[in-house]
Amino acid sequence: MPGHDERNSRLTTTAGAPVADNQDSLTAGDRGPVLMQDWQLIEKLAHQNRERIPERVVHAKGWGAHGVFTVTGDISHLTCARVLQPGTQTPMIARFSTVAGEMGAADHERDVRGFALKFYTEEGNWDLVGNNTPVFFVRDPLKFPDFIHTQKRHPRTNLRSARAMWDFWSLSPESLHQVTILFSDRGLPASPMHMNGYGSHTYSLWNDTGDRVWVKFHFKTCQGHRHYTNAEAETVVGKTREGYQEALFGAIEDGNAPRWIVQVQIMTQAQADALAFNPFDVTKVWPHADFPPVEIGMLELNRNPDNYFTEIEQLAFSPSNVVRGIGHSPDRMLQGRIFAYADAHLYRLGTHYEALPVNRPRCPVHHYHKDGAMRFFENAPNSDAYYEPNSFGGPIEERSFAEPPLRIEGPATRFDHRAENDDFSQPRALFVLFDDGEKVRLFANIAAAMSGVPDFIIERQIELFAQVHPDFGAGVCAALDAVDPQF
Ligand code: NDP
Ligand code: HEM
Repeated sequence: MPGHDERNSRLTTTAGAPVADNQDSLTAGDRGPVLMQDWQLIEKLAHQNRERIPERVVHAKGWGAHGVFTVTGDISHLTCARVLQPGTQTPMIARFSTVAGEMGAADHERDVRGFALKFYTEEGNWDLVGNNTPVFFVRDPLKFPDFIHTQKRHPRTNLRSARAMWDFWSLSPESLHQVTILFSDRGLPASPMHMNGYGSHTYSLWNDTGDRVWVKFHFKTCQGHRHYTNAEAETVVGKTREGYQEALFGAIEDGNAPRWIVQVQIMTQAQADALAFNPFDVTKVWPHADFPPVEIGMLELNRNPDNYFTEIEQLAFSPSNVVRGIGHSPDRMLQGRIFAYADAHLYRLGTHYEALPVNRPRCPVHHYHKDGAMRFFENAPNSDAYYEPNSFGGPIEERSFAEPPLRIEGPATRFDHRAENDDFSQPRALFVLFDDGEKVRLFANIAAAMSGVPDFIIERQIELFAQVHPDFGAGVCAALDAVDPQF
């Protein structure tokens, strides 16, 4: 064979020994049983038994690709982050996902989509782990596991439970904004390319003089919004359960690299102090009229992974991964997430998950974390400097990277986040944005999703919709009536 490299194409065991026969087990006689000494067979079967790792507890079904982030705007007065300096190009990787379905779930299900980005910056990895919606269902991390339980399977029936979902939502008015988006047209995007992404939380940017502003990140699709109705999605799923993978992988293979315009909204501390609502509440957006989006860059996905498992399944995002010039905010959900993701990866992928090729930063990494399962990186920089401080040239801290202090005030207690919180105005602003057709589809989608839910739960939820807008409550009632005149 031309160019055939014998040594590179030779099949070996994991220990590197050439395999003489990969077709026939070692047996006693031509019809006889397999011998225990056939360690090639045993190695093969043992490896197959270990091919699966736990799927993500949420966002298990996903699709991803490599790309590049190019800064086209100039916010260098606000941040010293290298990744955000004008003209900078940074390699990155994206993973999109549905939230509730397991790894084998159909792609075209009505659900929020994950929109997770890892930027391999010169000063470490920056992960922006957002969704295709600007808000979330709950505003306190204490509520997250309960919320997710309602999205997953019922313990006895092992079926998804509409009763649990609407029970929780109708008892959690802070979910109204996200519920309205979920059941609107944008709740079922046609592909990952045809939806926006949002950092959702409030983050911060800080500069070399220690000034901090609050920001929200937005990723506006350049492919245009495309979504399916429930009926269209049923047809698609009848034909393929992998429509997103096909669309994203296919577009990139065909040279149609999807793009998103990157924008930030900016809020000063003085504006935050004067705001009528909590700017760190992830159930709220910042109105564009008050905080106009500023275009800062372009995201392009242009390379498919060569190996889905190593590059997408082993990909580990964490909101704890920020870099110099980019910071967190007091958003309590974000604070909860800073803990939750790294902890999830320690369980799902193992102690040294950050050293896996797809997670490994593209800048030098020097730390004093030591051993543990699957430690496969070298001593850095030398084997005598394995504690700190040391006299043997080990890595040392760099004070110029210190983040400016974050102002914190008030007594520590469990504040009632529901007290005096307006959960209705922003969903109302969205509802009035919908045209008549969108409203009718919103009502119908909600009515369809309420099938089998006890009346007392439906009534409680309709009261909430009516507080958003009387037409919202009445519209859902009418749609329910159309499905079941008894209601
Ligand atoms: P604007 O009219 O200035 O902005 C409306 C925003 O809503 C745009 O970002 C637009 O996204 C998005 N949008 C338009 N149609 C739909 C739809 N059918 N479903 C979901 N989103 C849609 O108003 P405000 O900034 O005052 O926001 C009004 C409401 O719009 C908010 O309460 C919120 O629900 C929603 N929204 C607001 C965002 C924000 O950051 N302010 C972001 C996304 C939604 P696009 O430009 O891509 O069409
Ligand atoms: C995935 C926890 C809120 C977006 C995950 C995972 C966990 C988790 C444990 C699985 C991680 C893994 O195994 O790789 C939480 C907790 C939350 C929260 C505790 C609230 C306190 C949110 C919010 C968003 C979000 C508000 C979006 C704004 C995502 C995305 C993924 C994810 C996109 C998938 C990441 C990937 O593609 O690997 N979350 N989450 N989550 N979460 Fe959250």
